[in-house]
Amino acid sequence: MARRIVSLASLALVSLTIRSDSSHPPSSSFFFVDAQIVTTPSTPPPFPHGSIDVGGPVAGALPGTHSGEGDAWSVSGSVGDIWGNSDRFHYLYSNRTGDVVTVTCKVKNFTAGGSSWKKAGIMFRSGLGPQSRNTMIEVTGWGIAHQTRKVDGGYAESQHDSFSPLTDVWLRLVREGNTVTSYVRKDGEYGYRRYHSVELDLGPTFHVGLAVTMQDPKVLGTLAVTNFDISDVPYSIPGRPVMVGMTGSANDYGNKIFMQEVAQGLWSISAAGSGIGVRFPHILFIMKCF
Ligand SMILES: *[C@@H]1O[C@H](CO)[C@@H](O)[C@H](O)[C@H]1NC(C)=O
Ligand SMILES: *[C@@H]1O[C@H](CO)[C@@H](O)[C@H](O)[C@H]1NC(C)=O
Repeated sequence: MARRIVSLASLALVSLTIRSDSSHPPSSSFFFVDAQIVTTPSTPPPFPHGSIDVGGPVAGALPGTHSGEGDAWSVSGSVGDIWGNSDRFHYLYSNRTGDVVTVTCKVKNFTAGGSSWKKAGIMFRSGLGPQSRNTMIEVTGWGIAHQTRKVDGGYAESQHDSFSPLTDVWLRLVREGNTVTSYVRKDGEYGYRRYHSVELDLGPTFHVGLAVTMQDPKVLGTLAVTNFDISDVPYSIPGRPVMVGMTGSANDYGNKIFMQEVAQGLWSISAAGSGIGVRFPHILFIMKCF
């Protein structure tokens, strides 16, 4: 039996066990591979630090609220808009330092009806003032948009296309230095797709969280999310497989183990090399992260 534990950056521990079946003794070329990925336990960053009506309170408007815990949150807001030169909306946020962060959530639902440009989603914001620069991947009344205010008090800009799921859609916003990239995927879909990327200097301290506006002072709209996560690891669409280990000494078939995330939480390992007294040509399998 060969057993190898390899660490994958700070993300996971991978246990790869290769064993022979009794009906196929080691002299044959049949082997079975058991594999497990165990996510390294880590302390989630504190969330939230605060909940605020940015640009408020607004006289006569329903104040925003929030509820939830862990990775499931509901955030409600009424006024006004996140657009133009200044914003009014409800924001459930945490403070953040450092220039790398990935925030993810699955949108369960957002109150139906109302304005086609009501907005709810993940926002990174340089400050809590109404004119602060910010960027947001959001569901609206009609679909998905990624909008940004690049300088404090500047006019906002929006990027959107025909991708329009409103519920059971995963949103992801990634800051790496001065580049912020959004990713989206429908629940059950194979992998994220990159939605849009903007150059934005958020500064050394900024805010990450969930923003909601219904664009209506009399209607409190609620965004409900699950799987909310703040991560120190910058996400990018998986590229080429990464070599994570060796199966043994070098031989004609090579001896490297490669890993690749093919969808969120779903990894493939491919390995080739010498087995237990025998050479096996190639193993490829896919497993689920749990
Ligand atoms: C978060 O940032 C806000 C605005 O700068 C500040 O008022 C608050 O004290 C900070 N909270 C924490 C826990 O750092
Ligand atoms: C929205 O989703 C949450 C969480 O699944 C659920 O509790 C709530 O009832 C839903 N609201 C509507 C209006 O469907």
